[in-house]
Formats: sequence, structure tokens, C-alpha cells
Amino acid sequence: MKDPSRLYRWMLLWTSLVALGFLLAAAVRENLLAEWQQRQRAYRKLLAEKATDARGRELLRNFRIELRQVSVPALGAVDRCVSCHVGIDDPRMTDVPQPYRLHPVEILEHHPVDRYGCTICHQGQGAATNFHDAKAEDAYWDYPLLPRELTQATCMTCHDVSRLPPQDVTLVLEGMRLYEQKSCGSCHKLQGRGGALGPALDNEGLKTKHQLILTNLKPPYTTWRWHQAHFRDPAGIVPGSQMKNPTVTEREALALTAYMLSLRQRDVPESYLAPDKIAQKFRALSPQPQPAEQLYRMYCFACHGDGTYGRWEKTFQRFIPAIRGTLAATATREYLETQIAQGRPGTQMPPWHSQAGGLLPKEITALADYLRASPAARSARDLAARSRPVARGDAARGQMLFLRNCAGCHGVAGVGGVAPELANPVFLRAADDSFLATTIRNGRAATAMPAFQRPDGAGLSDAEIADIIAFLRSLESPSQQTAQAQDKSRAGGSQ
Ligand code: HEC
Ligand code: HEC
Ligand code: HEC
Ligand code: HEC
Ligand code: HEC
Ligand code: HEC
Repeated sequence: MKDPSRLYRWMLLWTSLVALGFLLAAAVRENLLAEWQQRQRAYRKLLAEKATDARGRELLRNFRIELRQVSVPALGAVDRCVSCHVGIDDPRMTDVPQPYRLHPVEILEHHPVDRYGCTICHQGQGAATNFHDAKAEDAYWDYPLLPRELTQATCMTCHDVSRLPPQDVTLVLEGMRLYEQKSCGSCHKLQGRGGALGPALDNEGLKTKHQLILTNLKPPYTTWRWHQAHFRDPAGIVPGSQMKNPTVTEREALALTAYMLSLRQRDVPESYLAPDKIAQKFRALSPQPQPAEQLYRMYCFACHGDGTYGRWEKTFQRFIPAIRGTLAATATREYLETQIAQGRPGTQMPPWHSQAGGLLPKEITALADYLRASPAARSARDLAARSRPVARGDAARGQMLFLRNCAGCHGVAGVGGVAPELANPVFLRAADDSFLATTIRNGRAATAMPAFQRPDGAGLSDAEIADIIAFLRSLESPSQQTAQAQDKSRAGGSQ
């Protein structure tokens, strides 16, 4: 029988040789074949081609193949991008391929490389030594390299973009305009102002892909591809989304994406903030009231349209009343102020007072007047002036009348349906009897709400209308009592 130790010695020799081979290969790969080294060798050839004068020859002589990096502790950056992008500050490098080309010059003039690095503007993984890792699109890296046209999204970190040369930030500015035009503020807050149906967007640009629902997106997964797809078809990306399809073109989706990515509250040292940004921060401390027409466009339009027609909204499964139609004629300024300030709890109509939607009291008054000043409201106002005082009615009789005449549209017990909810406490508290009576008598022109009393007195009598109003009033109190009872039992249970 053979000596087994001989076999073991052979095995040991071979495995050692294999391990050594791997080590050698790794060393060669790291020191001679690394992507950045190949790039620098290719760049040295370019330098040689361009070494036509004394200065050029000197640059060639002094060129070393070495790992280059810019370290900017104040911005938390160690950027090795210059290991490949070696020609970014050489004005001769205009007709060469990437990564050797001269950088857009004015940018680096205002933001010197050794003070800013690269990733503060471009994102990407600064420490990477190959382009795949530097791009970091499929690696576990929060902020991958932005596509070239979206790089402008990062200027907002340190600038008030509306003060930058417009050609530097065309997409962001366009997205900013679209945000107002498409009334995105109806459902989203920025700096504390806006609706409540969707999330606040102040820091949207710093969200990572892991915070978004990716199931319905095709790879590669990046936040900018997500946003573009989501703007084109919100419910296709987030099933059941109540974000009404904003109907945007591909170009508009890209501009809105650039604007979303620019919303970033990244802390950079004060010394890195441009003077325009500091002025902007200062202005934000004392907001000025905006004109009502602009407020309406920004915060109401997405849901109410121009307000002259009421309509059933499929996305919300709810009726949206015409707030600049006959309603605005019948309603007092105080009624409208309350509706706007308090909203309608349990519906999509959000509260707009300063602690909720962030509107100043002055602005809410201006909005109420704006609704009342609509053409439809003015022509209908004289009808309201002829309203008669309402007698005390009988709620039980009113309930019968309501079921027969109103429940088909307003729902049994006024819970809403194809017509607005009437049992809503905010509505009932703000609507006085003559408002209700006028609405029932005259209906609402250009909406489905019929007039229940004709000028000759046919239809419901004044007494019947009083009964219905008594019934509507009775809807307010029982639900409040139940709520209080529930509060009590909850308090009791916790003892
Ligand atoms: C102050 C912001 C800022 C800094 C800092 C910055 N860049 Fe840029 N960079 C830009 C902008 C803006 C563009 C142009 C995008 C465009 O074409 O719209 C750009 C373009 C580029 C391009 C593409 C040029 C082309 O013509 O295709 C490369 C490559 C690039 N930068 C690399 C770098 C590297 C490497 C660094 C770090 C040494 C760096 N940048 C630092 C803002 C910056
Ligand atoms: C290992 C080499 C390497 C490193 C490191 C590297 N790049 Fe590049 N970069 C390239 C190459 C190669 C291209 C051209 C790729 C192409 O055209 O497909 C390029 C292209 C670019 C472009 C232009 C993309 C476009 O859409 O036109 C930008 C911007 C850029 N790099 C920025 C950076 C930044 C910022 C870093 C640092 C985080 C970086 N690069 C690190 C090799 C590198
Ligand atoms: C990390 C912060 C930072 C980022 C990011 C940044 N800048 Fe600047 N930028 C500054 C500061 C600070 C100055 C003022 C420099 C000075 O005047 O000393 C400045 C100056 C400028 C100027 C000169 C005019 C002026 O306002 O003084 C331009 C133009 C400019 N930046 C464009 C851009 C663009 C375009 C981007 C986005 C691609 C950008 N900056 C991104 C900090 C930044
Ligand atoms: C009718 C209300 C409504 C309007 C108008 C609206 N949104 Fe939304 N938005 C939502 C809701 C609800 C969500 C959450 C569900 C979803 O992601 O689709 C949302 C989600 C978003 C998100 C994703 C936020 C995140 O981090 O998950 C962004 C970004 C966004 N909206 C931007 C916009 C922009 C820009 C506009 C204007 C073009 C707009 N929205 C108009 C209701 C609205
Ligand atoms: C997210 C959608 C949404 C936004 C944004 C919105 N509303 Fe509404 N609003 C509604 C809905 C839905 C109702 C009906 C609620 C109900 O069924 O009781 C309503 C009801 C109202 C009413 C009560 C109408 C009545 O019949 O008594 C007023 C007034 C009103 N909204 C004003 C505004 C104003 C002004 C703004 C902008 C500052 C605004 N709304 C923004 C959805 C919205
Ligand atoms: C054919 C459907 C229909 C019937 C029947 C109907 N309504 Fe209406 N009603 C509406 C619609 C639609 C509106 C919203 C009009 C608007 O957009 O301003 C409305 C609005 C109202 C309002 C104002 C609500 C608000 O938020 O400002 C009151 C009050 C009202 N109806 C009471 C009644 C009463 C009481 C009856 C029965 C006597 C009745 N309605 C029958 C469709 C109907």
C-alpha cells in the first residue's frame, strides 16, 4: 500500500499553487489592468498627440499613472472620478471621447474641483475605480450617477434656481412652472403649504428607490425612471393611487422629474451656500400673501376644475361640487371661509387653515371672495336676496320627504352619493337655514341639483322645505353623541 502522506503533500502543493495563481492574477488585475489605469494609459497617448508646444511636452513628462482623488470632508465626499476623467480641466481636450473631455468650463470656474469634488452635483459612488460601480445604478448605493440632462437637479442644494442663468436649469424651471399649472399643490405640500391627499414633497429628491413601490416598474430601477413612469400613469405604478392622472407629455414628465429630484434639503455648510440661496431662505421666514386667482390655480384646480360645474369624480368615488357656481351666490363669505379653512372631514376636501394647508387667514378670505365674484355667482345672487325666513319644521315628516325626493342622489341619511354628503358636521354647522332653503328652492344651475320650488310656488311647499331642514339638522347631533359616547367608553377601557 502506498504512503498516504505523499498524496497529501501533492495535494498541498497543488492547492498552494492555485491559491498563489489567484493572488497573482488579482494583483495584475488591480495594478495593471484596472479600468482607471487603462483609461490613464489611453489618456497619456492623447497627451502625446497633443504635445505640440513646450507646455504640452511638460504636461506629458509630468503625467503619472496613479489613483487620483479629491477629498472634500465638508461635503462628505471622496471622489475618484478624476482618475478617469483626467482631462476635465485641459482646454485642449474638446475633440476627444469621454471620459477625457473638457468639462463645461463656466461650471468648474465657479465650483473649483478641489473645493467641490464631483458627486455633490453628479451623485454616483465617488470612491469607485470602475465606471460600472461609479454609476452605481444596480449596486446597493443610494444616489446613483444622474443622467447628464438631470444633473441640474442638484443645483438647488446650494442655489435659488430661479436666480441662476435659465439655460443652466431649463428642465427644473419648466418643471416648477408645470407644478403650478397642473395644480400639484392641491394634493401635495411644499414648505408647509398645500393639500393633504398625497405625501409632502419637500425632500423628494433625496428619496432612494427603496422607498418607492417598484413592483410595476421594469428595470433598471432608478428614481428618475420611476417618477417619469408614475407621472404618465400613477395608478399603473402605484395600484389604487388617488393621484388623478395629470396628463403630461413625455417631455413634461421629464421636466417634472427634474423638479422632483431637485427638491432636496441636504445640509451643506453655510459657506457652500450661494448668496441667492441664503436670500431665499430668509424670504421664506416671512411669507407674503398671494393673489386669490393664483392660489385657486395652485391649490384647488386639480379637484374643482374652474368651479362652474359639479361632477362625479371616479378616482375619488365622490361628487365634487361646483364652488364657483350658484353655491357661491347663495353662500355667505363666512360660510365659504369655514368650508375652506376646515375642509370636509372624511372626504378628499382638505382643511386649508394655517396649521393644515398653510394658507394665511387673509388668503382664505381672498379665496372666499374670489369664489363669490365668479360670473355665475353674480347673476344668481338676486335670487338669493328674495329668500324668505324659514319656519321650524318637523324632522320625522322631513325624513319621509327626504327619502322620497333627495336620498336617490344624496344617499340615505345624507351620506353622499352622486351628490355631496349633507350629513357632514362642518357643512351643517356652517350652512344656515336660509342657505339650505334657498338651495332646495332654486337648485343649482348647471348641476344635477334640481329646483324643488318653481317661481309659481309649485313643488315642495315652504312648510315641507322647513321639515326637510329640520331632518338635516337632526343628522348633525346623533353622530356627535355617538362620537362622544365612543370617547367615553375608550377612556373607561383604558383605566
Ligand atoms: C457645480 C456642479 C458640478 C460639479 C462640481 C461637477 N460637475 Fe460635471 N457637470 C455639471 C453639469 C451641470 C454638466 C452638464 C450637464 C449638461 O450637459 O446639461 C456636467 C457635465 C459633466 C460631464 C459630461 C460632459 C459632456 O460634455 O458630456 C462629465 C463627464 C462631468 N461633468 C464630470 C465631472 C467630474 C469628473 C467632476 C468632478 C471633478 C464634475 N463633473 C464636477 C455639473 C458639475
Ligand atoms: C473607471 C473610469 C471612470 C470613473 C472612475 C468615472 N467615470 Fe465617468 N465615465 C467614464 C466613461 C468611460 C464614460 C463614458 C461612458 C459612455 O459614454 O458610455 C463616462 C461618462 C461620464 C459622464 C457622461 C455620461 C453621459 O450621459 O454622457 C458623466 C457625467 C460622468 N462620467 C461622471 C462621472 C462621475 C461623477 C464620476 C465619479 C463618481 C465618474 N464619472 C467616475 C469612466 C469613468
Ligand atoms: C455645494 C453647493 C453648490 C452646488 C451644488 C452648486 N453651486 Fe453654483 N455656486 C455655489 C456657490 C457657493 C457659488 C458662489 C461662488 C462665489 O461667488 O464665490 C456658486 C456660484 C455659481 C454661479 C456664478 C453666479 C453666482 O450666482 O454667483 C453659477 C452660474 C452657478 N453657481 C451655477 C451652478 C449650477 C448650474 C449648479 C448645478 C449644476 C450649481 N451651481 C451647483 C455653490 C454651489
Ligand atoms: C388629486 C390629488 C393629486 C394631485 C393633483 C397630484 N398628486 Fe401626486 N400623489 C397623490 C397621491 C394620493 C400620491 C400617493 C400615491 C401614489 O404614489 O401614486 C401621490 C404621489 C406622488 C409622488 C410620489 C411620492 C412618493 O415619494 O411616493 C410624487 C413625486 C407626486 N405625487 C408628484 C405630483 C406632481 C408633480 C403633481 C402635479 C403634476 C401631482 N403629484 C399631482 C395625489 C395627487
Ligand atoms: C383633493 C381634492 C380637493 C381639493 C384640493 C380642494 N377641494 Fe374643495 N372639495 C373637494 C370635495 C371632494 C368636496 C365635497 C366634499 C363633500 O362631499 O362634502 C369639496 C368641497 C368644497 C367646498 C364646499 C362646497 C359646498 O357644496 O358647500 C368648498 C367651498 C371648497 N371645496 C373649496 C375649495 C377651495 C377654495 C379649495 C382650494 C383652496 C379646495 N376646495 C380644494 C375636494 C377638494
Ligand atoms: C338629481 C340629483 C339630486 C337630487 C334629487 C337632489 N339633489 Fe341636492 N344636490 C345635487 C347635486 C349634484 C348637488 C351639488 C351641486 C353643486 O355642485 O354645487 C346638490 C347640492 C345640494 C345642496 C348643497 C350642498 C353643498 O355642499 O353645498 C343641498 C343642501 C342639497 N343639494 C339638498 C338637497 C335636498 C334637500 C334634496 C331633496 C329635496 C336634494 N338636494 C335633491 C343633486 C341632487
